Amino acid sequence: MDRLHIKGGAQLNGRIPVSGAKNSALKLMVACLLTDQPITLTNMPNLADTRFLAQLLETLGVEVYWPKGESTCHLNAAELKSTIAPYDQVRKMRASFNVLGPLIARSGHATVSLPGGCAIGARPVDLHLQALEAMGADLRVEQGYVKAAAIHGLKGAHINFAMPSVGATEHAMLTATLAQGVTVLENAAREPEIEDLANCLNSMGARITGAGTSKIRIEGVETLGGTTHAVMPDRIEAGTFAMAAAAAGGDVTLEGAPVAALGAMNAKLREAGVTVEADEEAGTLRIVRNGSRLKSVSVSTQPHPGFPTDLQAQFMALMSLADGTSIIRETIFENRFMHAPELSRLGADITVRGQEAVVKGVPQLTAAPVMATDLRASVSLVIAGLAAEGETVVNRIYHLDRGFERLEEKLNACGASIERRSEDED
Ligand code: EPZ
Repeated sequence: MDRLHIKGGAQLNGRIPVSGAKNSALKLMVACLLTDQPITLTNMPNLADTRFLAQLLETLGVEVYWPKGESTCHLNAAELKSTIAPYDQVRKMRASFNVLGPLIARSGHATVSLPGGCAIGARPVDLHLQALEAMGADLRVEQGYVKAAAIHGLKGAHINFAMPSVGATEHAMLTATLAQGVTVLENAAREPEIEDLANCLNSMGARITGAGTSKIRIEGVETLGGTTHAVMPDRIEAGTFAMAAAAAGGDVTLEGAPVAALGAMNAKLREAGVTVEADEEAGTLRIVRNGSRLKSVSVSTQPHPGFPTDLQAQFMALMSLADGTSIIRETIFENRFMHAPELSRLGADITVRGQEAVVKGVPQLTAAPVMATDLRASVSLVIAGLAAEGETVVNRIYHLDRGFERLEEKLNACGASIERRSEDED
């Protein structure tokens, strides 16, 4: 298993290109199931998660042409050979569950494993299932699998979500494109990835309006065609590098950044005393901190356009170095503070009380071996390691490889000293 050895203390200076968004790419890939025509996705992030989903799609009969390291992925679901998504594949990568609705829409039936809980919380799929049932799918849960059929086809429905769920909104939207009649999604999630998916589906011939707002209208069509679509840039990757620069100090410009999607984070960084120059037209975000200590800022995670839960761990790493006390509230997931005790190993002063973490900033962190249980938690340890004195070793970095493309290469190009070593090399 690989580890990262991070020599802390170096400032970051330079330019970092932002990759395509993991959480958009995963749903865009699923869209290929809705048509027998080829789909080409450009700006695809080369990640363990996207590669993993490609394997599941291949199991279902999709022809995937995506040479290693390349950012263009060709998907062709001309003929499906299976409508079963097995436990091992869905358990490892929850976004796989989103094949359920598209498979029903395309084939009339599907059997997809329930994903189960994960490291950041229980993460039920009740809202997904309610939406599919409202559209006429007949669902049974047997031996951990959802067995679904829509003998008379799927029908448009009025769905009012009990809470805005990114996954359920996307799942319902994907499925409704081929349902008969009009579907209206109320209290829909407004994350930018949903708009990206709607744009791709519309370019395939779908009729979706309102994506990016809390009310989405989908007029079902008979068939969808092929398309070529560029995956939107990853706002979480961009936000992570912004916080790395703020923690280490220096002057970093993010290129190809989804600037408009990062408003809440930019506001918090500015409050903390970081200079943020956002140029929406150029797609650049310049982050500068020279010398001055960070100020403590409190934050509460919220659905978009609020502060994203996927940047909470990184912000905690930053606040552990700030002057004063900050309160970090996690409102989206019930168990997303697993990074707090690991940050404490680096000298951070953090007390977790239920859904709140009280972070008392310290002037300096010091290196230690650490490990994390999920992707964003792992990268928060990298951020802390960049600012800490000495050599921090981050273990279990397969989490990082699930969601960050060439992480150490991009940071090292700006002056960081991060080395990937396998356990055998130690
Ligand atoms: C997506 O997960 C992202 N994953 C997550 O990113 C992200 O943290 C999350 O949205 C919130 O922004 C992908 O896009 C692949 P939700 P998702 O449904 O869709 C509850 C990362 O690190 N809920 O918006 O699963 C749920 O338990 C990952 O990249 C139900 O109760 O998130 C949670 O508390 C982690 N019933 C809340 O809603 C449901 O049927 C929001 O979850 C569905 C969700």
